[in-house]
Amino acid sequence: MNLSKSLDDKIFATVGRVADEQQLDTYVVGGFVRDLLLKRASKDLDFVCVGQGIKLAEAVHKALGSQLPLTVFKSFGTAMIKNGEQELEFVGARRESYNRESRKPIVEDGTLEDDQNRRDFTINAMAISLNKRDYGTLVDPFNGIKDLEEKIIRTPLDPKITFSDDPLRMMRAIRFAAQLNFDIEADTFEAITEMAARIEIVSAERVIVELNKIILCDKPSYGFKLLFYSGLLKIIFPEMVALQGVQTIEDKSHKDNFYHTLQVLDNICEATDDLWVRWAAILHDIAKPATKRFNKKVGWTFHGHEDKGARMTPAIFRRLKLPLGSEMKKVQKLVRLHLRPIALSKEEITDAAVRRVLFEAGEDTDDLMKLCRADITSKNQNKVERFLKNFDKVEVRMREVEEKDKIRNFQPIITGELIMSTFGLPPGKIVGELKEALREAVLEGVIKNEYEQAFEYLLKLGREKGLEIVNN
Ligand code: CTP
Repeated sequence: MNLSKSLDDKIFATVGRVADEQQLDTYVVGGFVRDLLLKRASKDLDFVCVGQGIKLAEAVHKALGSQLPLTVFKSFGTAMIKNGEQELEFVGARRESYNRESRKPIVEDGTLEDDQNRRDFTINAMAISLNKRDYGTLVDPFNGIKDLEEKIIRTPLDPKITFSDDPLRMMRAIRFAAQLNFDIEADTFEAITEMAARIEIVSAERVIVELNKIILCDKPSYGFKLLFYSGLLKIIFPEMVALQGVQTIEDKSHKDNFYHTLQVLDNICEATDDLWVRWAAILHDIAKPATKRFNKKVGWTFHGHEDKGARMTPAIFRRLKLPLGSEMKKVQKLVRLHLRPIALSKEEITDAAVRRVLFEAGEDTDDLMKLCRADITSKNQNKVERFLKNFDKVEVRMREVEEKDKIRNFQPIITGELIMSTFGLPPGKIVGELKEALREAVLEGVIKNEYEQAFEYLLKLGREKGLEIVNN
C-alpha cells in the first residue's frame, strides 16, 4: 500500500529529503500512522531511522531554519523538535523495548523490523517510508491494518513479552480499546489478567495518565469494565472495586454500586467533558461500602456516605497522584453536596433551602446539577423519567431564586472591618458571630443582601448583645 497522497504535511517531504542526504532509511511510525488510517487528527509525529536518530534530528533542525526549539536526550538516543503546535520526535531504530519513559538508556541499535517488534500493539507498529526510493510505502509486518479494520487490539509478539517489557501497556491496551471502541484480542486480554499484578512496578504518575484518558472517553464504563475484569482495577483503585456486589438480607437487596457508578459516569459524559466533574461522578458513592447498614424496618442505608466520601477524596487523590489543589477541592465539594439538590425535589421546597444549596455550591452549582441528573438511574425507565421531571422543577426553582437573590457568588455586604469599626471591636469571636448571623439572615430570607437592610440588622444585633455604636 502506498500512502504518499495522504502525507499532506510538507514536513514529510523535508524529513525524507534530509534522510536521503544523510543516507538514513527513515519512517514515520506509531500513533501518527494509526491515526492517519483511522482518519483521526494527530498532532505529534514520531520518526524512526535506521541509524542515529539524533543525527537525523539535527539535520532536520538545520533544514527547518534552526530557530525552532530542539531538545536532545543523549542517553536515550532521542531528540525532539518543537514545530509550532507539533512535536517531532526522532529516534534510531532499536532492539530494546520502545518505552520512552523508562529510565533505562537505549543500548542496542536495530533494524526497522527489530523496532516494530518492540512496539506495544499491531496498530501502533506500522511505519511509512519517507525515502525517495519508496516514499509513502506502508511497512506493516503484523497486519495492523487488518486489526484496525476488525477493531482489535493485539500485541505484535507474545503478549507476555510485550507486557513484561513495559507493564503500563496493559493499561494502554484498555485505554486504546476504550478510546477507539475496539476489542482486545483473547490471548492479549488473557495475558493482562495473568500479569495484572505487574502494574505495581509502574509509577502512579504513568498509570494515572492512562486512567484519565479512559475517563475522558465518550463511554468510560467500557474501559472500567475491562479494568475490572482483568483485575487491574483492584490493584490501582481498590475503593472502586469495593463498590461491586449486591447483598441481600430478608429479601431486601441494595443496588450494585459499581455498575451504578459506571452508569452515572457514562451519563455525566453526555453533559460535560470536564475531567474533574467526571471524577466526582466516579467518587460520589465511594463511601457506600464503609457506611452500609441494614435496618429491619427500612432495609439498607448508607447514611453520611456523601460526607465520608468527601473525606476520603484527598487520600485517594494523593495516592493516585492527582492534583491536590482546586481540582481536588471541587471534586470533594461535589461529592459532599451530591444529595442536596435531589432532596429539594422530595420536600416542599422553601426559598431558604434553595438559597443554602446555591450558597454552598457557589460557582460549581451547574456542575452539581449535572451530577445530580446523572445520578438518577434505575432499571425502570418510567421511574427515571418521573424523577427527571421532578428535577426539572428543582432547576426552575433554583433559577428563580438565583435571579431574585443572586446568592450563588454571594459575598456578605457587611465586612468584618465594618463590624469592627461600627462597634469599636478588636478582631475576635464576636465579630465572627455577627458575620455568621448576618449570613444566616440572608440565607433564611430575613433580610436581603443589600447594604441598608443588612446594616440595620447589624445594629439590631448589636443592641441585643449590648454593644455600643461608636461609628455610624
Ligand atoms: N509505545 C510503545 N509502548 C509504550 C509507549 C509507546 O510501544 N509503553 C510506542 C507505540 O508504537 C506508540 C508510540 O510509541 O504508537 C508513541 O507513543 P505515544 O505517543 O505514547 O502514544 P500514541 O500511540 O501516539 O497515542 P496517544 O497520542 O493517543 O498517546
